[in-house]
Amino acid sequence: MPTDNNIHPIFERLLSREDKEKRLGQRAKVLWLTGLSGSGKSTIAQDLERQLYNAGYFPQVLDGDNIRVGINNNLGFSIEDRTENIRRIAEVAKLYLNSGIITLCSFISPTKEIRNFARSIIGPENFIEVFINTPLEVCEARDVKGLYKKARAGEIKGFTGIDSPYEAPKNPDIEILTADKTVEESSQQILDQLNPLIKLG
Ligand code: ADX
Repeated sequence: MPTDNNIHPIFERLLSREDKEKRLGQRAKVLWLTGLSGSGKSTIAQDLERQLYNAGYFPQVLDGDNIRVGINNNLGFSIEDRTENIRRIAEVAKLYLNSGIITLCSFISPTKEIRNFARSIIGPENFIEVFINTPLEVCEARDVKGLYKKARAGEIKGFTGIDSPYEAPKNPDIEILTADKTVEESSQQILDQLNPLIKLG
């Protein structure tokens, strides 16, 4: 931390993450869901949040569309803006993490570099990459928000998967092939892998 800019962080005087994890009865992690628009990230994150809550955990979802109407409402979809979007979200996720909260981040995060950036901010030991693997054809056929239709018509430029790249993760910690699963089955697969990591003691 630079000491020559008149900024004096007070980290050492704050309650520790462990204190807060103990209060909440869990170990905090950041679950990072990446995938195409319409792949099911948000739906799975919401279902996971509910299931974790019902099991006695304290989770929080950070989601693309919500964050983009709030803290990131000045950002678009150029690669620079997407990188800044993810940088801010990763910083926010780190604040949640250090508050002991199981944080579920649901963002396209389209490139390996962007995801590695998020991982480096959050810390690799706290970061669980989950690839919501839904083929483009399936996302486009569903087209829940009608955005693929607009992108194909040229009404949206730089749409992920159409005229802006999506690099699928090569070695995600968890991969969900959603095409042949219900939302509940997808959440369950994630929970099975997550549970041992968030149990305290
Ligand atoms: S990211 O690329 O910066 O990670 P983020 O997850 O925050 O994207 O936002 C994606 C959501 O923004 C999509 O689900 C969609 O609703 C909306 N959106 C609007 N324009 C675009 C675009 N050009 N590319 C992708 N998503 C877009």
